[in-house]
Amino acid sequence: MEPRKISDGVFWVGAADWDRRLFDGLIPLPNGTSYNAYLVEGGTRTALIDGVDPTKTGVLLARLSRVKRIDYIISQHSEQDHSGAIPAVMERHPEAKLLASPKGKELLSVHIGIPAERIGALADNETLDLGGKTLEFMHTPWVHWPETASTYLREDRMLFTCDLFGSHLAAEGLYEKDDHLVCVAARRYYAEVMMPFRANIRRHLERFAKLKIDVIAPSHGPVHTNPDRVVQYHGEWTSEKLSNDAVIAYSTMHGSTAIMAEYLAEALARNGVEARLFNLAVTDLGEFAMSLVDAATIVFGTPTILAGAHPHVISAAFLANALRPKLRFSSVIGSYGWGGKAVEQINSMLSGLKLDALNPVQVKGAPGPEDFKSLDTLADCIAAKHSGAPL
Ligand code: FEO
Repeated sequence: MEPRKISDGVFWVGAADWDRRLFDGLIPLPNGTSYNAYLVEGGTRTALIDGVDPTKTGVLLARLSRVKRIDYIISQHSEQDHSGAIPAVMERHPEAKLLASPKGKELLSVHIGIPAERIGALADNETLDLGGKTLEFMHTPWVHWPETASTYLREDRMLFTCDLFGSHLAAEGLYEKDDHLVCVAARRYYAEVMMPFRANIRRHLERFAKLKIDVIAPSHGPVHTNPDRVVQYHGEWTSEKLSNDAVIAYSTMHGSTAIMAEYLAEALARNGVEARLFNLAVTDLGEFAMSLVDAATIVFGTPTILAGAHPHVISAAFLANALRPKLRFSSVIGSYGWGGKAVEQINSMLSGLKLDALNPVQVKGAPGPEDFKSLDTLADCIAAKHSGAPL
């Protein structure tokens, strides 16, 4: 396992994880992932930027096997998929000085057990001179944790961004030329991981716009040699712009709520609103998260079970609330047997999004003609709200 050259003195030394199918015990990874670490060799000093997941420590050490000396290990993010292998690198290279943001110093000692006195703190904009290669350390908090940082290699006009601009995509090549694949993988990653931090990302994009950037090197997925493409995507995703879309996420027990969800999707389509339908019993949560990137409305469809909403719907509502998408409107539809509090429960779970909650459609038993009329009214209402909102 050899280092892979990106430019003179800059190498990828990371690991692909083809088989990983779940991140955080929650996020599906249909294409695996990679943990990207980078080696920057100057005329006088050498720096390693980030490590890899602890399960891939052997791969990182193998790629570094011919490296005689590492002066600096720069940790841009303390989460274990990037920091987990750092203790093993430090054991092999006791000369290396571990550096992070001040918050990173605190979190590294907690998460990978390195004593704080062995970690140096880098200020925002502080530089490291490697001899003909200058690394500028930039505090870029909340992409994804409070300590996250980026590093700009001035001479090569290369920006290392850790999780930001990343994608869960294992690949043989360092680069991915397929626009569609890059867009889908980056959008999925943004939706699952970065969406709660839209305002922070917008601020960081403004700062990055002042740099001359030829290459963006994130710590998951492909290296971007067309940086404008992925920057533009993130600009769109983090903007306030909404699409004329409604997401319908539902669960069903005896089929009544499914009938209602499908009827509503058709009624919305007749009104010119594109509906994305997710049966939560079988859906990929990443696809659900992606649909929320710029949708204007979410409708949860839930049967009533044990006097409340279905657990799948509760889980999806919790996730939607936590991901903080741009959504403006919501509603709840569904069938119940004898009573319950499903609507109130779902609305309270979405309280963080401050949505305009439209009239729910609740049906006792199977939906009949009057219930379909109520769904038509809801579809009309959603279409009117969308046309009244600056989409
Ligand atoms: Fe890829 Fe937040 O770790």
